[in-house]
Amino acid sequence: MKDFTLDNLTDVAVEAYTKNAVSPRHAEIFSALIKHLHAFAKEVELTEAEWIEGIQFLTETGKKCDDKRQEFILLSDTLGLSMVVDAINHPKGGKGTESTVLGPFYVDGAPEVESGSNIIKRDIGGEKVLVTGTVSDAEGKPLKGATLDVWQTANNQLYDVQDPDAPEWNLRAKIKAKDNGEFSFVSEKPTSYPVPTDGPVGKLLSAAGRHAYRPAHLHFMVAAPGYETLTTHIFVDGDQYLDSDAVFATKADLVAKFEPSTDKNLATEYDLPVPFSKVHYDFGLMPA
Ligand code: BEZ
Ligand code: FE
Repeated sequence: MKDFTLDNLTDVAVEAYTKNAVSPRHAEIFSALIKHLHAFAKEVELTEAEWIEGIQFLTETGKKCDDKRQEFILLSDTLGLSMVVDAINHPKGGKGTESTVLGPFYVDGAPEVESGSNIIKRDIGGEKVLVTGTVSDAEGKPLKGATLDVWQTANNQLYDVQDPDAPEWNLRAKIKAKDNGEFSFVSEKPTSYPVPTDGPVGKLLSAAGRHAYRPAHLHFMVAAPGYETLTTHIFVDGDQYLDSDAVFATKADLVAKFEPSTDKNLATEYDLPVPFSKVHYDFGLMPA
């Protein structure tokens, strides 16, 4: 019988996980996972106390998950893993709009509303913003039948699903763009906010001396028949956290200027107080 030693264990485990794996892709992933895990433990000379602390951390992370809270996604986001996966699957340099993280606060099934709608269900004093833009293909041809799922925090830094006092679907909707690709809606200017810190990910951020803030943004999931669905944000230009996003998800091309407007015609058309804030963004989708 051969001993398992520090020198041979990685090779032995890789062989055990690859020789009968159900597919070559499983074998490739198992092999790399084992090699990197073992190399990690060896590099830091992991102590038994640290190993058990890691196990307890992952156990707490699992316990914090339910149908409304996904602490593992938050962990992936705050470690930068989600943006590595995003970059692999949506490489930079394409002609379409850049993507970024989905985040844990997307809720499927938001009510469909016409372009031009107001999505504020409860007004707690946020600055009103008129959001306008277009959805086109990567060459700029307007796309018919496009929809934009939007969601954002309120002025109190909370998404509706985090706030027991918020009405359902507050600051959330599926906007139907017009046939010429144009869309508009009225909302609140988003504010920067901390990712949830009441779970193990909060402890991780504190232990690393990192702040938990994300720069102010509007979330978008833009879809059109025959095109790849785009998951992205528009970030507010000038936000103090643009260079230190807790989840590493900012991209320069996604930063937009929110400018004050006193346009009386627009204020009347959209029932807005003067002055209001205005932002415009043109989305480009890639063929499916
Ligand atoms: C968000 O923008 O909603 C978000 C993204 C990643 C982690 C936490 C929140
Ligand atoms: Fe967000």
